Amino acid sequence: MRDVAPQERGDAAGPASGSAIHFDGVSKSFVLSGGEHVHAIDNVHLRVPANQFVAIVGPSGCGKSTLLRLADGLVAPDAGRVSIAGSAPKPGPGIGMMFQNFRLIPWRNVAGNVGFALESSGLRRAAIDEYVQKQLQQVGLARWSNHYPAQLSGGMKQRVALARALVGGPQIVLMDEPFASLDAQTRELMQDDLLALWDRQRPTIVFVTHSVDEALMLADRVLVMGGGRVLDDIMVGLPRPRIPTDAEQAGPYGQLRRHIWHRIRDLVMADPNSAFFGRTGSAPESGIR
Ligand SMILES: Nc1ncnc2c1ncn2[C@@H]1O[C@H](COP(=O)(O)OP(=O)(O)OP(=O)(O)O)[C@@H](O)[C@H]1O
Ligand SMILES: [Mg+2]
Repeated sequence: MRDVAPQERGDAAGPASGSAIHFDGVSKSFVLSGGEHVHAIDNVHLRVPANQFVAIVGPSGCGKSTLLRLADGLVAPDAGRVSIAGSAPKPGPGIGMMFQNFRLIPWRNVAGNVGFALESSGLRRAAIDEYVQKQLQQVGLARWSNHYPAQLSGGMKQRVALARALVGGPQIVLMDEPFASLDAQTRELMQDDLLALWDRQRPTIVFVTHSVDEALMLADRVLVMGGGRVLDDIMVGLPRPRIPTDAEQAGPYGQLRRHIWHRIRDLVMADPNSAFFGRTGSAPESGIR
């Protein structure tokens, strides 16, 4: 793995205004119905420079989605400060969100779904329509503009969700396992589409995934989370397009992949409450190799 200077990772001390996303000592707990406190995010310090593509990986329940919801302003921190381009985050057209389930509005057609977030932005109808058509062209759905979600395949719905997240050119795009429910082939096509769109529009992207390969195929930087903390912060530093061929697996790609995968496996194995053990079982005495 390449040794990186803190400036390159974007977490060096310096003015918060230089970062697209800045977490400064952020913590967030939830109280479960039994009164138990869950520390979903625990004293996270993180800086993401503008235009960076960051992937977050980590075991189930380690706080990935909570971190995105804090960045979107959907959840407020208990301690510390979150800022987006120097200000408190607030949901709106400046931040695109994409979730694992499509969350399309069934009674709105494709254009209506993509333009929905812009309608509260004060833009004129003609400007919204122009943004929507441009974005639909970019994801190859221009001729499906008047169709309804029920008339689309899973991959097309996901492209509508991608168009909706990117319409109007948001500076920040937060993606929570956006391709997890797609078949392998559609998922690869979506990854290509996303990279092409990112190259064209250059938003700052934070992309949560359970797939180490997906993280390494897409991102400039991979964060490994565990127990509400960022435990590893890795610059990928490999040229794109990245193809994990057999030859690559032996090279730097394979080294990064093994490092991240071992980190996640150790985190899962060390946690007897992990979803992997059904939350009622216990971790084996000796780790699985
Ligand atoms: N609204 C909530 N109320 C209570 N607990 C919550 C809430 N949201 C998250 N949690 C808890 O906070 C912890 C982190 O949850 P989070 O959804 O951020 O994990 P995650 O890393 O996204 O997991 P997964 O990979 O399964 O999606 C979990 O223990 C979860 O049960
Ligand atoms: Mg999650």
